[in-house]
Amino acid sequence: MDKVAYLQTWGCQMNVHDTEKIAGVLRHEGYAFTDNPEDAALIILNTCSIREKAEHKFLSRLGYFKRLKRKRPTLQVAVSGCIAQQEGEKFLIDNQFVDFTFGPQNIVKLPELISKGKRKASVEENPALPDTELPAIRDGGARAWVNIMYGCNNFCSYCVVPYTRGRERSRPMDSIIGEIRALADEGYKEVTLLGQNVNSYKDPKEGPNSSFPQLLNRVNAIQGIKRIRFITSHPKDLSPELISAIGALDKLCKHIHLPLQSGSTVILSAMNRKYSYKGYMEKITALRQHIPGVAITSDIIAGFPGETGQDHEQTLAALGEIEFDGVFAFKYSKRRNTRASEMEGQIDEDTKAERLRNILELQDIITEKINHRLNGRNVEILVEGQSSSDPNTWTGRTGTNKIVNFIPEGQITKGMLITVNVTNAFRHSLEGRIAG
Ligand code: SAH
Ligand code: SF4
Ligand code: F3S
Repeated sequence: MDKVAYLQTWGCQMNVHDTEKIAGVLRHEGYAFTDNPEDAALIILNTCSIREKAEHKFLSRLGYFKRLKRKRPTLQVAVSGCIAQQEGEKFLIDNQFVDFTFGPQNIVKLPELISKGKRKASVEENPALPDTELPAIRDGGARAWVNIMYGCNNFCSYCVVPYTRGRERSRPMDSIIGEIRALADEGYKEVTLLGQNVNSYKDPKEGPNSSFPQLLNRVNAIQGIKRIRFITSHPKDLSPELISAIGALDKLCKHIHLPLQSGSTVILSAMNRKYSYKGYMEKITALRQHIPGVAITSDIIAGFPGETGQDHEQTLAALGEIEFDGVFAFKYSKRRNTRASEMEGQIDEDTKAERLRNILELQDIITEKINHRLNGRNVEILVEGQSSSDPNTWTGRTGTNKIVNFIPEGQITKGMLITVNVTNAFRHSLEGRIAG
């Protein structure tokens, strides 16, 4: 059982990509990987604390690893990610079987943590993070994640991310471009640029004169890359320049994820989002004006403290007015240390669940309606490979981020851009036939 590691991830794309970097660091240290924790000498659990449910999923799995460790005391168990960062030393005190923890800013410390064998929580701020190039092991598919910035300065009143990922720092543009060129050489066709608020990207070397649209221009020029995506944009920072760039750059997917959170300006203000519903709507109008066919998706929180029935109605009205292509909606979850957790007017679980149901039901109808419009139309998709549920079916994605299942014909390979004719439209996917 020498140098075999088992990794498990919870949470967002950023965490998924962090696990790829953890794997890269481990491979450098001579580790191989297993899908079976029983075969591992080292287990790393990369955690998420965005909502209680995410945290609970991890905690309910923790008992299993505790038993493994009891059976085999030489096993090393480590916890990383946002829960590790937030809990610090306390996590080690509460979970004596865990060998060490490290936060998202300290993946670079991993070799030292493994070899020292000392129980330690490595959660210090790491201002050098944007300059640290860690090798990532990616899945070898057509799509790759690339960090362009770390942390968040927005302190939305409900959110733990500014506490778990630290202050906002941008990665040097040259280093981002270098990584994407290397990915193109390895055969990757699509990159997703990652940051909590990509539109406030600034090249640390160039300072205020640089911008996210400039970065997009440079990525667009990289040979071999066919598609560029980015997440997430904060509505308050969505600039006319970015809207123009999405419209003008050929490789930039005509899709933007723009979290609204609530249709009520009173609630938006309590959330510290720094835009009104009217201001948000103006951005939507501008996006649709400058980018024909743009797909817009969003996040909504149901039952934020103080949310009245009327506020909730405003959110439903907003969904009806905007007609998002898709929405991720969540019940508000009280997170420690956040300002919203101390606000008056916390909403009971039943009301939150009821409001969430209203939101999802309405959005399902809208999503289905929008997808139905694609029926009979030709769409371009990037082939991602065999579908996980049915080996005879392959899957790809439109620039607007809709999944299309199709029966492969001829010389179809992963990473190709092909045109399919949509023959059937469902809520969460489309079916198509290769066109021509
Ligand atoms: N940086 C991104 C969001 C990251 S978190 C942005 O600002 O858009 C992803 C989503 O989780 C958020 O958009 C929000 O809708 C949801 N979320 C965050 N904290 C939450 C909480 N305490 N309860 C419920 N949903 C939450
Ligand atoms: Fe959280 Fe707001 Fe930062 Fe997004 S912008 S990560 S919701 S604090
Ligand atoms: Fe991501 Fe969860 Fe952390 S959503 S930033 S892994 S709290």
